[in-house]
Amino acid sequence: MKLRLPQVLAITAAAAVMATSQAVPASAAGPLKSITNRVVGSAVAAQNLNEADFKSVLTREFGNITPENEMKWASVEPNRGQYNWGGADAIVNFAQQNRMTVRGHTLVWHSQYPNYLNNLSAADLRSATQQHINTEMGRYKGKIRAWDVVNEMFNEDGSRRQSIFQQKLGDGYVADAFRWARAADPSAKLYINDYNTEGINAKSTGLYNMVKALKQQGVPIDGIGIQTHLATKYAFPSSFRQNMERFAALGLDIAITEADVRVPLPADAAKLNTQASYYKQIWDACHAVSRCVEFTTWGYTDRHSWIPGTFPGEGAACLFDTNLRPKPAYQRINP
Ligand code: G3I
Repeated sequence: MKLRLPQVLAITAAAAVMATSQAVPASAAGPLKSITNRVVGSAVAAQNLNEADFKSVLTREFGNITPENEMKWASVEPNRGQYNWGGADAIVNFAQQNRMTVRGHTLVWHSQYPNYLNNLSAADLRSATQQHINTEMGRYKGKIRAWDVVNEMFNEDGSRRQSIFQQKLGDGYVADAFRWARAADPSAKLYINDYNTEGINAKSTGLYNMVKALKQQGVPIDGIGIQTHLATKYAFPSSFRQNMERFAALGLDIAITEADVRVPLPADAAKLNTQASYYKQIWDACHAVSRCVEFTTWGYTDRHSWIPGTFPGEGAACLFDTNLRPKPAYQRINP
């Protein structure tokens, strides 16, 4: 097919706009990572690093990557002694090449662990967990800024989740995991991470009481990760800042580790405006507390997001749309 000159010009102009939208910051103030002294990060799936435009906006705006699934136990050791480091290596290498830091996610979690754990005795599960921490943290020693050592260990009422680790190893598994982690990579900051712990509530209070006791016992825990998966159908957690302050008073850092704000689909201007106010409140709460050191989102573009698959009828939860254009939420925090 032969193109006429106006068509050629139109295609060239469209390509120029696309190229420009990737190369030029979405805000005159500069990229997100440049307007704050907090670490600004995004979760990333290794497969998406094949997309040039995705990589371009990622490296422009963010200074840290969290692997979305690639460092989970089932990913790195699907069968006992059989390791698969492909995805995790790809992410760490990409970060190093682009002078980004990495948040390791996650070592001890009730989900996405290999099936063989279910058949182990308590003693064997304990040594397998220590070996897993040593092996994974050892492989990336010195290359991971912070690790989510224990993930999602609480129920909503603040009691301990009856995970395989809790049931077979008892309460001591948390302190053990942190001690093994400190020994495996003394340079990494060690975090406990959970969701629905943004405001002061039964769950965040369960977490608070436990980390306070662990600190008093000298367990090497450096911070708490507050995932911050929010939805506009629920009120914004108004005690977010006060909650962070009580953890900071224990001498802990706080990281926003997985922020996203889902809206009912289809999204419209009013919903995205509400979403923007939620993102801005997260951003402001973190900046109001000196120990809040990190603002990381669970993916940065609606092109790749876990939300629609998990919450049917909800989505559009990220700072950038499917075409990698900044949404009102981005513009609210970086006008
Ligand atoms: O890799 C397999 C693929 O081989 C298979 O074809 C496909 C079919 O469903 O599944 C793929 O695995 C999926 C995996 O993501 C990788 O894409 C799993 O089914 C899917 O359940 C898994 O979902 C992840 C989820 O954790 C698992 O609980 C999401 O991507 C990931 O975003 C999500 O992340 C969690 C954090 O780790 C902890 N906090 C909550 C957060 C959101 O749920």
